[in-house]
Amino acid sequence: MSPVSNPDVTRAGSGQTPGLDHIAIIMDGNGRWAKARGLPRAAGHERGVEALRRTVEAAGELGIRYLTVFSFSTENWRRPAAEVNALFGLLKSYVHRDLSRLKQEGVRIRVIGQRTGLPDDVAALVEKAEQETALNNEFFLTIAFNYGGREEIARAARRMAEAVQAGTLSADAITEETVGRYLDTASLPDPDLLIRTSGEYRLSNFLLWQSAYSELIFADVLWPDFDRSCLESAIAMYHERERRFGAVLPGAC
Ligand code: IPE
Ligand code: IPE
Ligand code: MG
Repeated sequence: MSPVSNPDVTRAGSGQTPGLDHIAIIMDGNGRWAKARGLPRAAGHERGVEALRRTVEAAGELGIRYLTVFSFSTENWRRPAAEVNALFGLLKSYVHRDLSRLKQEGVRIRVIGQRTGLPDDVAALVEKAEQETALNNEFFLTIAFNYGGREEIARAARRMAEAVQAGTLSADAITEETVGRYLDTASLPDPDLLIRTSGEYRLSNFLLWQSAYSELIFADVLWPDFDRSCLESAIAMYHERERRFGAVLPGAC
């Protein structure tokens, strides 16, 4: 549980999962799921979108307000062009098919990551999804697409340097809070819980700044098989954890 006295690190929580507002997920294992069935990797990515739909719905029902998912990393450009194109196509079809429903359900969609370098049609659709849901505040779905934590921090540093040069920011006044405001996740709380599927034990450049005090759960399940019960187990494990944020809790020896 959060410490009680420092407002910077205390979080009220909401709904059925007090103290758990924000879950971030590294959706990994689509390729292995497909390979195990003798299918092309793209088939795994398609089933991965269905797992995402299930997870968004379950997260909302379980009282989570913020869900951030890693969907395409800056390093994923190293994959064959056909796979990269398939992933772009899936983002587009997800927005095409789900935007109006998500909008009606009060979901605010945000896409974090580098916008430059994305194909024009993908960038336009991302902007449309963000604009059309900008006033929603029931549930915050953030998709990390063309995202890398180091790239995000470097881009924030560049923008801060530009502001210092322009005289709108004083170098002496740059704090952790300032850096947070220049990141793509400005206005989102830090993830309380970060889940990675597929049995890999690494962050792969996801939310490096924001996950400083996230609880980490590594699950063996391959992403296309992830469902509500997997999410419930991760939430139950989260509630077993003791979050100290560097402090000594009252009653500790
Ligand atoms: C996650 O599944 C999706 C992306 C990284 C885009 P992978 O495609 O990485 O699947 P594995 O890790 O090869 O099984
Ligand atoms: C991380 O998975 C990126 C996404 C899930 C989008 P990867 O499969 O790309 O990560 P590595 O290569 O195993 O570290
Ligand atoms: Mg992978």
